[in-house]
Amino acid sequence: MAQEDVFKKIVSHSKEYGFVFPSSEIYDGLAAVYDYGQNGVELKNNIKQYWWQSMVLLHENIVGIDSSIFMHPTIWKASGHVDAFNDPLIDNRDSKKRYRADVLIEDQIAKYDEKINKEVAKAAKRFGDSFDEAKYRATSQKLIEDTEKRNALHERYKSAMNANDLDELKQIILDEGIVDPIGGTRNWTDVRQFNLMFSTEMGSTSEGSMKVYLRPETAQGIFVNFLNVQKTGRMKIPFGIAQIGKAFRNEIVARQFIFRMREFEQMEMQFFVRPGTEIEWFKKWKEIRMKWHEALGFGSENYRFHDHEKLAHYANAATDIEFKMPFGFKEVEGIHSRTDFDLSQHEKFSGKSIKYFDPELNESYTPYDIETSIGVDRMFLSVMCGAYTEETLENGETRVVLKLPAQLAPVKLAILPLVKKDGLAEKALDIRNELKFHFNCQYDEKDSIGKRYRRQDAIGTPYCVTVDHQTLEDNTVTLRNRDTMEQIRVAVPELNGLLHDKVSIIGLLKTLQ
Ligand code: GAP
Repeated sequence: MAQEDVFKKIVSHSKEYGFVFPSSEIYDGLAAVYDYGQNGVELKNNIKQYWWQSMVLLHENIVGIDSSIFMHPTIWKASGHVDAFNDPLIDNRDSKKRYRADVLIEDQIAKYDEKINKEVAKAAKRFGDSFDEAKYRATSQKLIEDTEKRNALHERYKSAMNANDLDELKQIILDEGIVDPIGGTRNWTDVRQFNLMFSTEMGSTSEGSMKVYLRPETAQGIFVNFLNVQKTGRMKIPFGIAQIGKAFRNEIVARQFIFRMREFEQMEMQFFVRPGTEIEWFKKWKEIRMKWHEALGFGSENYRFHDHEKLAHYANAATDIEFKMPFGFKEVEGIHSRTDFDLSQHEKFSGKSIKYFDPELNESYTPYDIETSIGVDRMFLSVMCGAYTEETLENGETRVVLKLPAQLAPVKLAILPLVKKDGLAEKALDIRNELKFHFNCQYDEKDSIGKRYRRQDAIGTPYCVTVDHQTLEDNTVTLRNRDTMEQIRVAVPELNGLLHDKVSIIGLLKTLQ
């Protein structure tokens, strides 16, 4: 199945099974804003719990905070967001549609890539087993020309972006003959910078109101609380501050479902270190974070680091952790060595000293910072993409199953009476009432047992307990494994002990040690 179709299926599956709904749907929706449904919120909470506990439980020197969304507007001046948190934007005069100039060009590069890949795939089919891809790429004149064109465009685009050259971005669009994807014309305006921060007014006009921003990242709430946490927690360098919270960006091109949203959630941790040790810590955090992702079991081949070619002016190292989505490897998390930029800027703009006295060195300095920043929603999407599976069963039927890591699954255990009568429903409810204190359980008595198994497979429930007539005789049930569909007979009192380690976040955390 084409990857595009797989992605469409994941989007509709997410809606059909109560994971993600378009926001304000009965009013025709609100672009790039989504709501999480009854299963989505459980999965999202489990992802957040996994991240939070891996930070603050597993590291004695990391503590959490929860700062507010509204902050003093000068914070965004100090951080550089007021002046430089921009996307290059271009309008089409005919369709009146607005686009990101960089995205139009990146799409053009992707078209070249697609063409090249198609040519290679066609040749592979033609030559069969004797096909030597490297040789073909080096000798096919057509392929060489296309690759050169693609690389030249990439180079030209990269230098225009690095130089912030908006005229050159427009010229590339014109030279490449890029048309409006909707209207099909080339009637483009100039490229302008567009600030991504949402703003609003705080206070009534009679008192004089103040322009405030909805935070575009949670990180600044950590930097401005650095001294509060360090002093009240008597924290010693190196130490980290973690936070989970909403962030807002007025994305011009919001697409690919929850990959790029206007309201989203971040899990960020700032780790403060002695100047000069930051690269060593940057490497350590790269390793720790990759391990966290890989522990979910989707296969290490689906992750990769993408080191930044162009570093932001305040960073001295940066990388992304990318996950293989159906639309290619995409950034899920960023790891940045941000030097002392943020703390120094806040010191300058607030006029307050933000220094750390290091008792071992007997000197004060501005700590350096390593940031790990991951989007909850992107992580959610990567988990859905990694888990969505269609299987053909022996009887020829197709089974759709979300192979979620059991620890992240919204429902851990479904409790199903084989039939409603003969006291089986009552027995199943007794078991549910006992286990509901330990796991998120779901009781279901409607439809055939086969249909109920399929419903649980579709939401990723790792285990199903079936109560049958034998249960009334010997207090045992069948326990069905979602992935293997195998069933074993288990005594009811043993269920809790048997499942606890398999479905609790603790099991996952232990693999990180
Ligand atoms: N404090 C650093 C920072 O915010 P970023 O690369 O802009 O860095 C970090 O964002 C992470 O936040 C990204 O890796 C991504 O997972 C998530 N993210 C950023 N913009 C997003 C958006 N519009 N929608 C969903 N997630 C987003």
